[in-house]
Amino acid sequence: MARLDVTETFHGITYPGHLHTQDTFQYAMDFKFQDTDTLIVTYPKSGTTWMQEMVTLVSSKGNPVRAQTQPNWLRAPWLEQYYCPDVLKVSQGPRLLTTHLPYQLLATALQGSKAKVIYVARNPKDVVVSYYHFHKMANFLPNPGTFSEFLNAFMEGTVHYGSWFDHVKGWTSNAGNIHNFLYITYEDMSEDLHGSLERVSSFLQCPLAEEELTSAERCCSFSSMRDNSMVNYTLVPEDIMDHSKGKFMRKGKTGDWMSNFSEEQSRSFDKVFASEMCESSLEFVWKNPEETSLKSRTDTEPLPHHAA
Ligand code: A3P
Repeated sequence: MARLDVTETFHGITYPGHLHTQDTFQYAMDFKFQDTDTLIVTYPKSGTTWMQEMVTLVSSKGNPVRAQTQPNWLRAPWLEQYYCPDVLKVSQGPRLLTTHLPYQLLATALQGSKAKVIYVARNPKDVVVSYYHFHKMANFLPNPGTFSEFLNAFMEGTVHYGSWFDHVKGWTSNAGNIHNFLYITYEDMSEDLHGSLERVSSFLQCPLAEEELTSAERCCSFSSMRDNSMVNYTLVPEDIMDHSKGKFMRKGKTGDWMSNFSEEQSRSFDKVFASEMCESSLEFVWKNPEETSLKSRTDTEPLPHHAA
């Protein structure tokens, strides 16, 4: 694990060096997408693993065997991580890929492709809390310092994987350039997992019978995933993820930011959000004083090429 404390910088964004090199970024940028590919795109801690499980279960028509026997990084490798080419060499059937890369790095590779792109966004206040706790257990990420320090770095966009704001804006504002694009939020999945699975199945043109959907829903619940070693990262050695310092499947809730942010931190964040997102087609929807969600401006006005 010689590279655990190494940071790799690419196009101004820092990444963990044990998973990425300049060559692996180049591989992602030069990737030849096939029309049958599905690409899950997220900023870290936005529900990546959850969507990997949902797509796996939709593709298997609710049959849990694959989800319970193959680790998520083999089912849906991250395009930019070093092991991706080896995984793809031996994979069978339509390919499921994952990426945390910003849009501009994959724009050329995706151009003209009919690959299906699923973008999952999450309330950034919950993202930063989840990411902070993840830094404590993930030895390949820098020491996050205090929550306040980490929050400032997150708002400035200097954390690993770059600015959340740029990531979300980059992908959603270019949705019209992507042939098949589905935008969905962690909050949608949390509020209505069944309906979210239906959206994914319709987007993937993979219809499921009611009992298959119910089986998929059961496997994608927080408690099932928390106990499934193929997705809860307990297979990852202690020197990479220190499970005594936290769990990957931590809380799985919306609105957890409220027990972590001070009022002042929340106000500062809202200001940064307002200024960063003022030209975006996304906005916070305050469902009730206790909860926020990030949705497209109106339910009837989907993002361009919003295929489901
Ligand atoms: P918390 O740290 O808030 O609990 P990612 O996979 O992008 O790294 O995101 C991890 C976050 O998604 C964690 O959030 C994790 O608990 C949550 N998550 C994963 N599976 C989930 C599920 N089935 N239901 C709800 N949340 C889930």
